[in-house]
Amino acid sequence: MTFQDQLNAIKSSAEVELNKVADLQGLETWERQYLGSKGELTALLKQLGSLTAEERPAAGRAANAVKVELTAEFEERRTTLAAAAADQHLVEDAVDVTLPGRPQIEGVAHPVSQMIRELSDIFALMGFQTVFGPEVETGRYNFDLLNIPSDHPARDVWDTMIIDSDHEEIVLRTHTSPMQARVMEQTNPPVRVIVPGRAYRYEAQDASHEWMFHQLEGLAVDETITLTDLKGVLQELARQLFGPRRRIRFRCDYFPFVEPGVDFAVDCAICDGKGCRVCKYSGWLEMGGAGMVHPSVLEGVGYDSERYTGFAFGLGVERLAMIRYGIPDIRVLFENDPRFLAQF
Ligand code: FA5
Repeated sequence: MTFQDQLNAIKSSAEVELNKVADLQGLETWERQYLGSKGELTALLKQLGSLTAEERPAAGRAANAVKVELTAEFEERRTTLAAAAADQHLVEDAVDVTLPGRPQIEGVAHPVSQMIRELSDIFALMGFQTVFGPEVETGRYNFDLLNIPSDHPARDVWDTMIIDSDHEEIVLRTHTSPMQARVMEQTNPPVRVIVPGRAYRYEAQDASHEWMFHQLEGLAVDETITLTDLKGVLQELARQLFGPRRRIRFRCDYFPFVEPGVDFAVDCAICDGKGCRVCKYSGWLEMGGAGMVHPSVLEGVGYDSERYTGFAFGLGVERLAMIRYGIPDIRVLFENDPRFLAQF
């Protein structure tokens, strides 16, 4: 085959193939095959050197003309295909501007968190600072410094989840009371703190018990603190939470770290103390335990129990939230069902 025949063959095959190219990717392949540095036309041009000196100029001109022509056809095809691709993009990405917008789902604080914030605000007005403590505790803080030595039967009252007992007793705190000692160790009186946070107990779950729940501890220590102060603070708490007409009730109770110890309740705001489903027809809603800080606890952290006295209380946050929002079962608080949580 002569040079010219080969050139013609390349040109016609290139044009046939170019017509078949359907998209930009195919066009790239075509360009590589015919016009690229390793393409067929370039390969043919390299053969020019093997022609005689008379044949060479005409063949060179012819080959260049073909190259110019194919390049022009290539460019034209590229313009067409690029426009088609752009059109298709527009169709595929079309946005129906008449569709209504999707509503944004806005998060809200969990009812327990809302309750803790509300409590912190109430106590802040009474001069209490909010502090936080570790959920993994040592037996020393969870029990010993609270006047509950390891052979004390009261240690069994708290169904403790134990993390390590080989070296040092490490537990998930069973109440927020260990923070009493931690705070007192780090400050001198006067002390006025509240400690909201999680507590854990190895306990069967039911409508009012969870194995993980929240407590809010309160502690005040100063030179002249009496049980009256405790009553006043809790009365004010009940008033702020449930309205001006609420009364509180103290009954004797035993906690090793207070003396005297009480459980405290507020009269039911829903039935005004007459008895209803929420207060289980007793007229009273249990809020927690409280009392005057035991002298041994004060001495344990190095306070002079002759000079200082204090009160402490611990209330169940879920129970309060349940009363506040009319939630009949504690377990729904931790099922994390957005349909339930979104109501708050
Ligand atoms: C205590 O935990 C004491 N530390 C409270 C205290 C503090 C007394 C300071 C004196 C001085 P008690 O075990 O009663 O006490 O728990 C206090 C409150 O936590 C209860 O009234 C209840 O509201 C809540 N609570 C206890 N166990 C659970 C549970 N399993 N699920 C949900 N709430 C609970």
